[in-house]
Amino acid sequence: MGKILITGIAGFIGSHVAEKMLRDGHDVVGIDNFNDFYDPRVKKENIAEVMKTASGSRSDFTMLPGDILDQCFLSDVFSNQKIDSVIHLAAYAGVRPSIENPQLYLSVNVNGTVNILEQMKQHQVGRLVLASSSSVYGNNPKVPFSEKDPVDQAISPYAASKKAAELFCYVYHHLYGISIACIRYFTVYGARQRPDLAIHKFTRLIAADQPVPMYGDGSMARDYTYIDDIVDGTYKALLWTQEGQRFDVFNLGNGDPVRLLDLINMIAGALHKVPSIKHLPEQPGDVQRTYADITQAQSVLGYAPQTGIHDGIKKFVAWYLHH
Ligand SMILES: NC(=O)c1ccc[n+]([C@@H]2O[C@H](COP(=O)([O-])OP(=O)(O)OC[C@H]3O[C@@H](n4cnc5c(N)ncnc54)[C@H](O)[C@@H]3O)[C@@H](O)[C@H]2O)c1
Repeated sequence: MGKILITGIAGFIGSHVAEKMLRDGHDVVGIDNFNDFYDPRVKKENIAEVMKTASGSRSDFTMLPGDILDQCFLSDVFSNQKIDSVIHLAAYAGVRPSIENPQLYLSVNVNGTVNILEQMKQHQVGRLVLASSSSVYGNNPKVPFSEKDPVDQAISPYAASKKAAELFCYVYHHLYGISIACIRYFTVYGARQRPDLAIHKFTRLIAADQPVPMYGDGSMARDYTYIDDIVDGTYKALLWTQEGQRFDVFNLGNGDPVRLLDLINMIAGALHKVPSIKHLPEQPGDVQRTYADITQAQSVLGYAPQTGIHDGIKKFVAWYLHH
């Protein structure tokens, strides 16, 4: 495999994926605009970790700060770097903020993806992994969620933007033969997790003896997936794209949903604290549950998640306390 372009490299998942690629001997080009969706200093720290890993490896690492909405910037990147494959992670994530600002999500997540696809077409770059999301399933009544289930009823602009990005990927596969894996991540956690996500937020609050806001009655469930498993699945998806002109969608989850209340108690247990819970009404846009059917990723990619929620939470809390 030649040089890999990772968009959104300074983010939570991007920085981990980059480190894996560098350790495995692949040359990496990273782009990120270090926006302030959360504190950009966190993203700078993530990149510092990637650079440390790069300097201890035999691989080349080039960091190019810039915006995927800036077509001149993107054109320079694709003209000047000999890119072989792309892992496209740059996006606005988060369900609730997308309800406040749908145009921003449409612009970055959809137009930004089309900008990447256009550059790939123009520079004959033939392999892409797109970060999609379990949110595309909306309130799917059938569990576990299978890639064959209909995804026509998104319930947030974020979910709609991810589904739209998948659709554009299929179009570029069909028209130009680009080999594409759309991977639907199910709530990812682990070291460097985005500070806005529940596990990180709850850990911060419980550690500081502050009340945890719990939306709904605590029965809402999520299929939390540990970052190392996500990195492994992302890498396997990229390898799969190398084997021909292919297109498919894969769930990358853990296959074991956890109720919100159980999650809060697990985190509190790992911190040796008793949580105080502040009950709040359910939030619009939040789905009732996510639950991944991972048989397709298992059989086609060889994906096999290794870290269950109990071990994963212990590892996350240990990282948090050390950090
Ligand atoms: N974390 C999860 O649980 C989860 C679940 C499902 C899907 N995803 C998807 O995975 C991807 C990575 O998520 P994450 O949790 O690491 O998020 P993140 O916010 O930590 O990382 C995204 C990165 O993209 C960058 N970025 C955003 N807009 C950009 C632009 N216009 N130009 C250049 N860079 C830009 C941001 O600065 C950030 O560093 C996203 O596409 C997200 O939607 C994440």
